[in-house]
Amino acid sequence: MSALTVKGLTTGYDKVNVLHDVSIDVAPGKITCILGANGAGKSTLIRAILGLTPPRQGQILWNGRDLAGEKTHKIVAGGISCIPEGRKIFPRMTVAENLALGAFLEKNSALVRERLEKVYTIFPRLKERAIQLAGTMSGGEQAMVSIGRGLMAEPQLLVIDEPSLGLSPLYVKENFNVIKQINAMGMTVLLVEQNARQTLAISHYGYVLSQGRVMAEGTAQALAANDEVRAAYFG
Ligand SMILES: Nc1ncnc2c1ncn2[C@@H]1O[C@H](COP(=O)(O)OP(=O)(O)OP(=O)(O)O)[C@@H](O)[C@H]1O
Ligand SMILES: [Mg+2]
Repeated sequence: MSALTVKGLTTGYDKVNVLHDVSIDVAPGKITCILGANGAGKSTLIRAILGLTPPRQGQILWNGRDLAGEKTHKIVAGGISCIPEGRKIFPRMTVAENLALGAFLEKNSALVRERLEKVYTIFPRLKERAIQLAGTMSGGEQAMVSIGRGLMAEPQLLVIDEPSLGLSPLYVKENFNVIKQINAMGMTVLLVEQNARQTLAISHYGYVLSQGRVMAEGTAQALAANDEVRAAYFG
């Protein structure tokens, strides 16, 4: 069974539909990616999953349960954590404070500290910089803060919206390595990206979204070898 299933999703803003009959499956324990150009509807798909832009048609099933009408905070409490586009860290708070925010649903401070130590094991750099103001960290370090904050919720599914956006090639590589590492530890990941080459290199299965429709899907190897996908995304 899939962890998350999107079935025939059509939705959008005001009078315009942005997504048309989109169906995807996110398999437990795997990295599933959504590739697409600017404006393809990638973030809208994430908004739909989080209940921010609810389906107009179709269904979103989480562990087999329809999320229709569910409030965003309930969906998050149910185990879906999202690392938003642009990272959205709090620049005037410290790294540790930013991370702690990711565990705001957990009231037991001992458990929060335990999770913090786990995140520091994955990102030793964040431990070194725990009391630095997050806004003064480098772009790549801020990306670590945002991923770390997502992990602090101990989700069952981590949804990541364009982690490579605005990062230098070295940081892109580092971040993708971290995502691969988190997945190897058992985390289910839905990765939304424009960077096809590196995304397919770490993904198991993927979908290509074009103007709000799924134009191709397949294993990462098959998509990487697909001529249409190559022409559109590998330059
Ligand atoms: N809040 C909104 N109100 C109205 N239209 C919106 C809103 N958010 C997005 N759109 C429109 O929906 C379409 C899809 O946008 P979306 O942000 O989902 O694309 P995306 O694939 O995430 O793009 P990018 O790679 O640039 O982040 C675009 O045409 C966009 O202008
Ligand atoms: Mg987007």
